[in-house]
Amino acid sequence: MRLITSVHTAQNIFLKLKQQGKRTGFVPTMGAFHEGHLSLMRQARKECDVVVVSLFVNPAQFGPKEDLSRYPRDLGKDRALAASAGADYLFVPRASDMYAPEFLTRVRVDVLSDGLCGRFRPGHFDGVVLVVAKLLNIVQPERMFLGQKDAQQVAVIRRMTDDLNFSVKLRVCPVVREKDGLAMSSRNRYLSDEDRVRAAGIYAALSAAREAVARGESDAQRIILQIKQLINDGTGASIEYVSCVDIKTLKDVGKINGKVMIAVAARVGNTRLIDNIIVRPSS
Ligand code: PAJ
Repeated sequence: MRLITSVHTAQNIFLKLKQQGKRTGFVPTMGAFHEGHLSLMRQARKECDVVVVSLFVNPAQFGPKEDLSRYPRDLGKDRALAASAGADYLFVPRASDMYAPEFLTRVRVDVLSDGLCGRFRPGHFDGVVLVVAKLLNIVQPERMFLGQKDAQQVAVIRRMTDDLNFSVKLRVCPVVREKDGLAMSSRNRYLSDEDRVRAAGIYAALSAAREAVARGESDAQRIILQIKQLINDGTGASIEYVSCVDIKTLKDVGKINGKVMIAVAARVGNTRLIDNIIVRPSS
């Protein structure tokens, strides 16, 4: 596996690969790899000729009070993990190379960026789509692999790539979980032992909601209330939101009629966690 740090070098290499007719699979990340990231790399390995992983802790998507400076960084370990998952290139650009002092451009996906996490992280998705647009222009992949763990991110990126005519195909991979159900996240390593146990309660509450839907419950407000109660009682986490939304528009639904995403964001200790499941009505 080759490590590339220069944007210019990266663009030349990936352009050549494309001209040679290679199908490039791209996995954008911020590092601190866990099985969630590795599952995307393995899927890319299965489907593509060349696997490119980017590792960039993107300053543009962190709010002023967020964890940019303490975000976990371990390039040595990440390098070994990416190689073991089949990556051919690990692209680790410098922030000064991605955002030169004269940088002025913004990218924004309206509406989809504003609900759910967008309410609590203003500007976050603007930073995400900006960096993803840049990375797509540098890597020029045929396919990009994203995790369903960040479902709103998928919806926002899909809108951006469609609206701006990027020719990339999006492949969305399932949420990879710890044994107790906690969705894997680079941020899980912030959790104290006690909070780590509590954090599993978020998925337990979502699973209970799935069972309620399977038993015939279709009222979104009742489902949301049940999840809030379970999270409050079982974890003591402070809930940012629990929402039942249409999977494409991310608009709140009143009834579970078709496929619906139930999404949660909560703080356990100082750590912000998100999770979601997709449910459909029992027939
Ligand atoms: P990061 O949080 O490092 O995640 C990189 C990719 O891994 C994302 O597509 C994310 O959805 C996926 N992922 C994370 N945890 C996962 C899990 N438990 N199961 C499955 N997939 C999982 O998301 C970002 O970085 C950034 O916003 C980025 C898109 C790279 C732009 O900076």
